[in-house]
Amino acid sequence: MRKNILLILLFFILLLVNVVNGEENSENKYKEADDFVRILLSKMTLEEKIGQMNQITVEVISKPRADGFQKLEIDPDKLKEALVKYHTGSIINTGGYANNVDNWHEIITVIQDGAAGYTRLGIPVLYGIDAIHGVSYTRGATLFPQSVAMAASRNRELLRQSAEITALEMRASGIPWTFNPVLGMGREPYWSRLWETFGEDVYLASEFGREYVKGIQGSDPSDKINAAACMKHYLGYSVPKNGRDRTPAWIPERMLREIFLPSFKAAVDAGVLTAMANSSEINGIPVHSDYYLLTELLKDELGFKGFMVSDWEDIKRLYERDHVAGSPREAVKMAVMAGIDMSMVPFDFSFYELLLELVKDGEVPVERIDDAVTRILRVKYLLGLFDNAYPDKSLLPEFASQKNTGVNLQAARESITMLKNDNSVLPLSKEKKYLVTGPASNMLSVLNGGWSITWQGNEEKLYPEDKYTILEAVQSKAGNENVIHMEGCTFEEDINTKETVSKASEADAVIVCIGEPPYCEGEGNINNLEMTSVQLELAAQLSKTGKPVILVLVEGRPRVISKIADDASAILMAYLPGMEGGRAIADILFGDANPSGKLPFSYPRDVRGNTCYDFKPIEQFDVNKYNPQWEFGYGLSYTNFEYANLVLDKTEYKMNDVIRVSVDLKNTGSVDGKETVELYICDIVGTVSRPVRQLKRFQKINLEAGKSTTVSFELDMYDLSFINRDNLRTTEPGEFTVMVKNLEKKFVLADE
Ligand code: GLC
Repeated sequence: MRKNILLILLFFILLLVNVVNGEENSENKYKEADDFVRILLSKMTLEEKIGQMNQITVEVISKPRADGFQKLEIDPDKLKEALVKYHTGSIINTGGYANNVDNWHEIITVIQDGAAGYTRLGIPVLYGIDAIHGVSYTRGATLFPQSVAMAASRNRELLRQSAEITALEMRASGIPWTFNPVLGMGREPYWSRLWETFGEDVYLASEFGREYVKGIQGSDPSDKINAAACMKHYLGYSVPKNGRDRTPAWIPERMLREIFLPSFKAAVDAGVLTAMANSSEINGIPVHSDYYLLTELLKDELGFKGFMVSDWEDIKRLYERDHVAGSPREAVKMAVMAGIDMSMVPFDFSFYELLLELVKDGEVPVERIDDAVTRILRVKYLLGLFDNAYPDKSLLPEFASQKNTGVNLQAARESITMLKNDNSVLPLSKEKKYLVTGPASNMLSVLNGGWSITWQGNEEKLYPEDKYTILEAVQSKAGNENVIHMEGCTFEEDINTKETVSKASEADAVIVCIGEPPYCEGEGNINNLEMTSVQLELAAQLSKTGKPVILVLVEGRPRVISKIADDASAILMAYLPGMEGGRAIADILFGDANPSGKLPFSYPRDVRGNTCYDFKPIEQFDVNKYNPQWEFGYGLSYTNFEYANLVLDKTEYKMNDVIRVSVDLKNTGSVDGKETVELYICDIVGTVSRPVRQLKRFQKINLEAGKSTTVSFELDMYDLSFINRDNLRTTEPGEFTVMVKNLEKKFVLADE
């Protein structure tokens, strides 16, 4: 017994030392980097410094190509001009189409050879890419469920693994920097980029943002399997007032700090190396020109030590679009003085030329240039680029490995959310006949969405042959002879709905796959949140046949389906489940996987519906009542879980106490399953109105049929805090409620 206690004690001492060491290592690394950068900076000319702040897209230095089947080739003369004349420090993007790994190795090698060979100091180029659900632009890479689906999994470990695999496969491509995670709050269902977020909840987005950064960067970003993350789009980009991408948002300071800042703070605290600015405006101020947000709040108050890159052309847009700058030169001055460190110009060298003029004219101080360049070179150092900026072929055996595919399949399985299962129509028997129909039934592009092989993700012919569509996966379960396929309709137009309906009589059940085509950014703007009428009609007509209709929703945002939800027997929300999504959907449909996803957003019942689950007391009455089709956190399983004995260790706490909570969970069903236990609180009376509930903890528990466990949580004073009338974070004494499922307990926080 004594030996066990000693061993446990030793483990915790080592753990503590390790944590301390981890922090010390990080501090040492930064100190090492800063010593190196200080010396390098002292050798640099003004032109070389400003070049480091200049980022161009790869099209500027490559030869045009007709399609995605052609290799991308660097134009040596254009590369030389970019490196020698403009001292370019960063290059991004893929030249319109994903490239295979060998082509990426050629591209990165030519670029780094150029930096080493043509330039005076041989500073390596920092290459960046949108690897947002795996390495979107490397052919054959492991493409995971998009972020909103990963949030539905509530599985931190899977999220972190997906990030680790992304970093490894990115480095295997020779690229050390991804423009991800998106840490905006997915609280506007119309917004075309909701699927790039981790959903509507502050705590969930903060937890997953932290895990993602740690997964990409690891404990040492210079390690050959780690990379640099980029938290984006800082700040308040995700709630355009009219739901359309890159249109004004009006966010009061108090709300900005309470709802939109915490996920970015979590990433900063996790050591994120870069950030990207919001392309739009808040309260009439384009964020790229906002000194308060970019410098005072992010760099001074939160202590962000990385660098801030602009979004695409967004410095120019201060003049061309927003009219807050009277000239392109004024736009450069405004952005750099606000706190933008690197300009994603990206098609020319105007930023370099204008900034050089501004510094020579004394309008931008060299100190600001030195600050920006120090931040940029620090990241290059921490990434190990000065030691080796070249692709590492030793990683290739792990690129798109079976292991990585297995993690991807599991992530898709655990993201998919079962919203309805009347009379246990699911899981389906593999011995029966099925009609599979709908525009999402037989395409890979719809399962992946934007940022997949191409920017819009919609070039079906470029997707791999060896991955399963939903139809192909269902056929692999039930046998081709037992599956009838009819298109029914496209996302916008009828094809053969009548004939499809008549085919239903030959099947035991109908699987209707509807949703959205792939899209990205403004191209995904919509004027009506309802599912398109032709898809609703297909489902409605099939329901009239009396055959069980199973809806499979493949969409980046919750399109309203209230007209068909009641008549469907079962509904699976698949979101954008990635390259293994077809298999995962079939695994769940046929019971080879037990669904465990929980909605990361409130699913609207009507087209106005953008009330989130953390609504205010004033929103719980009559017509104002929060009344979604399905609530945030909702999701069914093939088994049942019972909650009991919600216990707090005290009924009264003092300030700075730890609040200990436990609850018993039992799997009372007949199959093993995973359940996410979510803990919410309510601050019953506050000096500003408090949400009726806020998610503060969650744990995903794997429980065998018939088994029980006790789940414990600890809350601290930060968890009870909010932003008060003076825009300051505060924790107020008073009565609180802790809620887990349908259980609740009150406690008092004493005033002292
Ligand atoms: C786009 C997006 C941003 C992306 C960048 C580079 O405009 O807003 O998320 O990382 O350009 O592709």
